[in-house]
Amino acid sequence: MKIYVPLDSAAKALGADAVADAIVEQAAKRGLDVEMVRTGTRGMIWLEPLVEVGEDRQAFGPVTVADVPALLDGKLKGHGKVTDIPFFAKQTRLTFARCGVIDPLDLDDYRAHGGLVGLQRAIGMTGADIVAEVTDSGLRGRGGAGFPTGIKWNTVAGAQADQKYIVCNADEGDSGTFADRMIMEGDPFTLIEGMAIAGIAVGATKGYVYLRSEYPDAINIMQQAVVIARESGVLGAAVLGSDYAFDMEIRVGAGAYVCGEETSLLNSLEGKRGVVRAKPPLPALEGFLGKPTVVNNVISLATVPVIMEKGAQHYQDFGLGRSRGTIPIQIAGNVAQGGLFEAAFGMPLGELVDDIAGGTATGRPVKAVQVGGPLGAYFPREKFDTPFGYEEFDGQGGLIGHAGVVVFDDSADMLGMARFAMEFCAVESCGKCTPCRIGAVRGVETIDRIGRGDTAAVEILTDLCDTMRDGSLCALGGFTPFPVMSALRHFPDDFATKKEAAE
Ligand SMILES: Cc1cc2nc3c(=O)[nH]c(=O)nc-3n(C[C@H](O)[C@H](O)[C@H](O)COP(=O)(O)O)c2cc1C
Ligand code: SF4
Repeated sequence: MKIYVPLDSAAKALGADAVADAIVEQAAKRGLDVEMVRTGTRGMIWLEPLVEVGEDRQAFGPVTVADVPALLDGKLKGHGKVTDIPFFAKQTRLTFARCGVIDPLDLDDYRAHGGLVGLQRAIGMTGADIVAEVTDSGLRGRGGAGFPTGIKWNTVAGAQADQKYIVCNADEGDSGTFADRMIMEGDPFTLIEGMAIAGIAVGATKGYVYLRSEYPDAINIMQQAVVIARESGVLGAAVLGSDYAFDMEIRVGAGAYVCGEETSLLNSLEGKRGVVRAKPPLPALEGFLGKPTVVNNVISLATVPVIMEKGAQHYQDFGLGRSRGTIPIQIAGNVAQGGLFEAAFGMPLGELVDDIAGGTATGRPVKAVQVGGPLGAYFPREKFDTPFGYEEFDGQGGLIGHAGVVVFDDSADMLGMARFAMEFCAVESCGKCTPCRIGAVRGVETIDRIGRGDTAAVEILTDLCDTMRDGSLCALGGFTPFPVMSALRHFPDDFATKKEAAE
């Protein structure tokens, strides 16, 4: 009998290793024939460690070491088949189809679940046709900006150079986000396959994954996966025995939010200080070491294999407006059911928060939801009918970013959150431009003045936010006004209350 236990770092943090060891030990004592398979996570973090038993994957969780005897005796109450759990059953898993299903480092398991079909197909196509397929799918960058992936690839493909690069942005610095980590830990070959397809499409023979140092498990798994892929001929001088060469390395960043910004990342990758570069030139034309470079987020690249496997139309058929395909939404903060929820674009924010996430963990009313990381706007309940879509969120003064959703209950102090946004910007600013470097510090001071009851400071804060938005070189300074102004606009009472308290 096969028993599956996640090796994902979230599951491990909740005791998965000890549970796996206890299962193996106690099964041996009972003379049970158990094969332990370590997988990625299914993304239902509140059920971790989630143990699955047998070929039909009966789910149990959260399982403790003390539960193991009952589990092996068939006496532990479970959730039925894992795919029938409502949180899972309501998803459309394209990018994450294999995550939690397979052993992440078993290339045969990967192939058995549709792996390498996309790469094999790409090898038989011209670079231009691959780029066209990705463009037709409607895939847009999942790192934050939502730029069409195929158009970026087309620019790199059209550039003339002796060397081009594929750089995967695995810095994943947004608050409440973990999709990149999850796929790297749960299905690393998908990212490797996506990068190889990108390389063939644009004529790049070398790739780098810039991975944050805070993800030791992902680093470890990715490094092992690259070695396996190389030894199996997926990477190297002849990709899957073809005339195409593509190889890659994992590089570990030292940890700075701004190093997720693509030009800062490239500086860091080159061994320089992580300072933002002015654009133009675009990285697509002058990127890593001055050569044409595709910089894409993990999820953007990891979605390419399924597009190549099932075709652009299949992917394009999901979604809303100009937001095509699926989006792996990460639900975090004060929620009853946190985790990864991959769905076609279009689901209203409120459905996600109230139904899928089950409201707050504290049981108190939801007050605000921050979508898109530390640079994303706060959404009040009045805006919960906003459907997940790039343009739809933009229309509400917000952004989807890397699709992190952080939920707050009614005890949240929104003036405090606005202050935190400015403080975060001040701490993480690369210092290159004045509106961000100085503005964020002045922003903290101005919010403190509001907190002390200085009403005139509200106008100064608004003016400062306009300056930061319009005058900053990159989105760190440019988008910090989103959380600040949305907090002020939607929760004026929190700012007024402070004033009254001070009076
Ligand atoms: C301050 C800042 C931090 C960023 N952090 C990340 C990050 O951690 N991961 C990421 O993929 N993109 C991040 N981005 C966006 C990247 O600059 C870039 O748009 C992205 O890597 C392009 O890939 P995509 O088109 O696949 O989204 C950040 C941008 C800014 C301004
Ligand atoms: S906005 Fe901030 S992080 Fe971006 S370039 Fe200017 S100083 Fe650097």
